Amino acid sequence: MEKATLIFNGKKHEMPMVKGTENETAIDISQLRQETGLITLDVGYQNTGACTSSITFIDGDKGILRYRGIPIEELAEKASFTEVAYLLIYGDLPNKEEQQIFSQRLTQNSMIHEEMLRFFDGFPPTAHPMAILATMVNSMSVYYTDYYTEDFQAETFDLMAASLISRIRTIAAYSYKHSIGHPHVYPKRDLKYASNFLYMMFDSPVNPYVPDPDIERALSILLILHADHEQNCSTSTVRLVGSSMANLYASICAGICALWGPLHGGANQKVIEMLEQIKNDRLTIRQCIESAKDKNSKFRLFGFGHRVYKNYDPRAKVLKEYCEKIFKKCNYQDQLINIAMELEDATLKDPFFIERKLYPNVDFYSGILYRMIGIPTDMFTVMFAIGRLPGMIAQWKEMHDTVPLKIGRPRQIYTGNNLRHYVPMEER
Ligand code: ACO
Repeated sequence: MEKATLIFNGKKHEMPMVKGTENETAIDISQLRQETGLITLDVGYQNTGACTSSITFIDGDKGILRYRGIPIEELAEKASFTEVAYLLIYGDLPNKEEQQIFSQRLTQNSMIHEEMLRFFDGFPPTAHPMAILATMVNSMSVYYTDYYTEDFQAETFDLMAASLISRIRTIAAYSYKHSIGHPHVYPKRDLKYASNFLYMMFDSPVNPYVPDPDIERALSILLILHADHEQNCSTSTVRLVGSSMANLYASICAGICALWGPLHGGANQKVIEMLEQIKNDRLTIRQCIESAKDKNSKFRLFGFGHRVYKNYDPRAKVLKEYCEKIFKKCNYQDQLINIAMELEDATLKDPFFIERKLYPNVDFYSGILYRMIGIPTDMFTVMFAIGRLPGMIAQWKEMHDTVPLKIGRPRQIYTGNNLRHYVPMEER
């Protein structure tokens, strides 16, 4: 294969190229510093690959997203969330027996330690559910200690993965129940993943939860669409933290914190707040677009733009079509979807957005569907975290399967003071 040549100080340095299975090509600079004393500078990692990975493929220019080779559109239409979780973590769709074992492991790990319930009482009623989720996930490392060892082991990993995927849903539902002052509802062993979550969220002694297959499928689709997205901010955080050999719970906790930010997973909450602001303040679509374009204004069009997608985000496409279909079927009305569609139409015609290739991302339509399901706005990012968890776990496992495990440690170009000396207080 061709090599890349760098000429520095009149000397040629050849660097090998790496090609992926979809022909993405990279210059391997791992010997660069050793050979030349140079490092590369790439703020925001816009051109930097941190690993090779066989989990998720994205072609941002064509709007393609595949998990382990399977298009996201097929999975959203046909698969269950637990099948997708298995696919991401173990590499292939499970056969009947594998699915049974995986589901059984999830069921057996669905309750949380009763002592952990006391944690919920310690949070103020206004606590953001993402803060609660991160705290509770990290505290799993002190309650389920026999599940992890310092070196990566298949059996304990299987239990840890199931423990996280199953318990995150219980923790999320309990935090909601706590926020509304209701008693928590234990998981039920005969319910599927999404149904069990909705049951724990919405069942109460006075208002029993009535399952609705359309709503349950809508939730599964949302979770599937969020299940992985290669080296995004939160997943990279999981890898970075995990690279120090921190345990899986701690690594996932860090990823959840990274996901919370409004430029990332937190955007889904911001989108609904923005659409509500447009509705309540009677803003025109033109006013919003002009504010978003104005560099002096703090207003941003949340749910627009993406580091990788420079064409339509395929997840947003699936969600938009699904929203239209399900709203019609269930005769559900939400003024926010009309505002969202108007906003999208206007941006797609605006040169500012066209030139910068800014399209709606997954967060633009997800909140509208969460609203229909009955999820409160401040829990939207928690839903994102539940969906993203299998991907984070798969990436953590892949990193640990790669020999040797390298600690993640970027370099910098120092721009501070040169050597100077301490000056006593009275002389300053
Ligand atoms: N509204 C208005 N202008 C925008 C937007 C937006 N949502 N997104 C990008 N731009 C503009 C920038 O101002 C910049 O303009 P300039 O070239 O004149 O300076 C240009 O488009 C490029 O934007 P960057 O911020 O440099 O792109 P980057 O790849 O660094 O950021 C990001 C991507 C963070 C997603 C950005 O588009 C954004 O802030 N979007 C809104 C938040 C959001 O929806 N986040 C969710 C992303 S999806 C996910 O994480 C699940």
